[in-house]
Amino acid sequence: MADNGSILVTGAAGKLGAVGRTVTGLLLDRGLRVRAMVRREDDRAASLRAAGAEVVVGDLLEPADVYRVVSGCRRVYFGMSVSAGYLEASVTMAAVTREIGVDALVNMSQMTVSQMSIQNTTPSPQQRQHWLSEQAFAWSGLPVVTIRPTVFLEGFFLPLTGSSVRDRGRIELPFGRGKTNPVSTADVARVVAAVLAEPSSNLGPHLGRIYELTGARSQDIYEIAREYSDALNREITYSDIPPEDWERELKRAGLPEHLTHHLVTMAALNRAGRYDRMTDGVERLTGRPAMSVREFVSHHADEFGGRRA
Ligand SMILES: NC(=O)c1ccc[n+]([C@@H]2O[C@H](COP(=O)([O-])OP(=O)(O)OC[C@H]3O[C@@H](n4cnc5c(N)ncnc54)[C@H](OP(=O)(O)O)[C@@H]3O)[C@@H](O)[C@H]2O)c1
Repeated sequence: MADNGSILVTGAAGKLGAVGRTVTGLLLDRGLRVRAMVRREDDRAASLRAAGAEVVVGDLLEPADVYRVVSGCRRVYFGMSVSAGYLEASVTMAAVTREIGVDALVNMSQMTVSQMSIQNTTPSPQQRQHWLSEQAFAWSGLPVVTIRPTVFLEGFFLPLTGSSVRDRGRIELPFGRGKTNPVSTADVARVVAAVLAEPSSNLGPHLGRIYELTGARSQDIYEIAREYSDALNREITYSDIPPEDWERELKRAGLPEHLTHHLVTMAALNRAGRYDRMTDGVERLTGRPAMSVREFVSHHADEFGGRRA
C-alpha cells in the first residue's frame, strides 16, 4: 500500500494512559496524516483537530462506525479503555480491517497475556479478553503487530497512588513484596508510533511480532517508594494494605465491576511475583531507554503533591 494514506488512531481522546492521544501527536510531529477517532466532540477532540489531526467521531462497538473510520486508512492503532466490550470491539475491528485491507494493525494488549494459555488463564475479564482478542487477530490473517506492555505509570500508578502520596506521603497498595516494572505510556506510544511511521519498505520485519514493554527496573514497592522519595525530596513510604480494603475502596469510588475485577486480579498477580518482568523492548524499538519511576514522578511532581525545596 502507498505510504501517503492516513493512519487511524483509535481511543485518541485519551483518558488514563492516553496512548492513542500521544501516538497521534508523535505521528503528526513526523508530518504524517492522522485520522484520530474519538467517542464524542469535546475539548480533547478540538485540541486534536487544532494539532492537525482529522478527527472522526464513532463508537468502536458499532460496526458501521468502525467501517466508516477505517475506510481510506492504510494503517491502524487499535486500543481503547479497559471495558467489558473489549473483545467485541477487537473482533469488530478485525472483521472490518479484513474487509477493507490495511498494511498494518498495531494491537494494544497486555504483558500478562505472555503468561496465559488455554490451561492457564487469570480471573481478570480484561486479560481474558486480550488473550482471546489476540487469538482472533491471529486467525484473521491480518498484518498485526502486538504490543504487550506491563502495568502503566500514567494509567495505574498516577491515578491509584497520586492522592495517598499527596495527602499522606504513602503508596497504599496490596502488592506485598512482589516486584513490578511499570512502563510509561510515553514510551509505549513511542514504540507504537515507531512501527506505524515505518516506510512500507521497512514494515515487513514488524508484522506478526509481539513487543513486550517494561520500564527500567523491576523492584518491589518499598524500592519504588524510595524512587518517589528521591523525585519529590521528601519521605514516601509503602503501606502494604489488605486486598479486601483496597477492593472496597475501588468499589466505593464507583469503578465499573469489569475494571475493579481486573485491578483486584492485578494486585493478586503482583503479590504472587507475576509482574516481576524486564524487557528491552522500549530501547530496541526507539533507541532510547525506558523512563524510570524516579523520572516519571519528577515529571509529574505536582500531581504527587509537589517536590520539597
Ligand atoms: N493501565 C494499564 O496499566 C495498562 C497496562 C497494559 C496495557 N493496558 C492496555 O492499554 C489499553 C488502554 O490504553 P490507554 O490507557 O491509553 O487508554 P485510555 O487513555 O483510557 O483511552 C482510551 C480511549 O478509548 C475511548 N473509548 C472507550 N470506549 C470506546 C468506544 N466504545 N468507542 C470509541 N472509543 C472508546 C475512550 O474515550 P472517552 O475518553 O471519550 O471515554 C478513551 O479516550 C487497554 O487495552 C489496556 O488493557 C493498560
